[in-house]
Amino acid sequence: MDSLPLVIQEIDALRQFVAATRAQGRSIGLVPTMGALHQGHLSLVRLAKRRADCVLVSIYVNPTQFGPKEDLARYPRDLQGDLLALAPLGVEAVFTPSDRTMYPPNFCTFVAVAGMTTCLCGVSRPTHFRGVTTVVAKLFNLVQPDLAVFGEKDYQQLVVIRRMVRDLDFPVEILAGVTVRESDGLAMSSRNVNLTPLQRRSATALHRALSTVRERYREGERDASRLLGLAREMVEGEPELRIDYLELFDPYELHALPLGEGGGLEGPVHMALAVYAGNTRLIDNMRISGED
Ligand code: PAF
Repeated sequence: MDSLPLVIQEIDALRQFVAATRAQGRSIGLVPTMGALHQGHLSLVRLAKRRADCVLVSIYVNPTQFGPKEDLARYPRDLQGDLLALAPLGVEAVFTPSDRTMYPPNFCTFVAVAGMTTCLCGVSRPTHFRGVTTVVAKLFNLVQPDLAVFGEKDYQQLVVIRRMVRDLDFPVEILAGVTVRESDGLAMSSRNVNLTPLQRRSATALHRALSTVRERYREGERDASRLLGLAREMVEGEPELRIDYLELFDPYELHALPLGEGGGLEGPVHMALAVYAGNTRLIDNMRISGED
């Protein structure tokens, strides 16, 4: 049987593990997660494993990235299942700190990337990215990894983290893992377990809408309003879904692209959408034109 990863909960033990690994001359790859691991996470771990000698996975449901009315309390948690899933992949250690360890009393220092965090998901989740960049910056300081892997499924998060790393000179290479999908196209997400059977069926509309827009773009459609209208219709056709946003944007700076009235799309285009199925928020994205 594969041995389970070492479970580290305290900062001192983490620093000792990191120092011992470094003393052996081995590189470290970090895969930050919030647990409830699925095949999408495991593909990020495999990517880290190919590129680093030692892989460390963090499992921490980070409270600062949830808004007051969001699903922190019902976010799925399954540490034992996660450890079993990681064992065959050769993950050496899992860092799973308590809230008190990550946010000691009177914690008041945050890392925030400006501008690109107020659009897309940042509109309905105004404090989300500040929570993400704060916890990721802390993890980078604690682990000092050579590389860290993030999924393209959370596209805005990936771009924001890359910007933080560049702006604050973190010596960490950021690798992106492609989105892993169910056979019907739904992007894997820990939150999918909260969907009712009906919501689960409707949720396939996200990927269908993105694929249709990409197809129509490839056929020559350049009118952003028409492309978005098409996607909107497909999602609104599902009674279980309520759109939060649906946008075409610049893949690097995340700014919106011009809509309609001769404002045909040009250059690289990315599309993302966020949709509520009951209380569960689903996101997905796709490169519509230009290189991934
Ligand atoms: O993508 C996630 O699971 C989280 O946002 C992350 C990067 C682990 C930070 O809590």
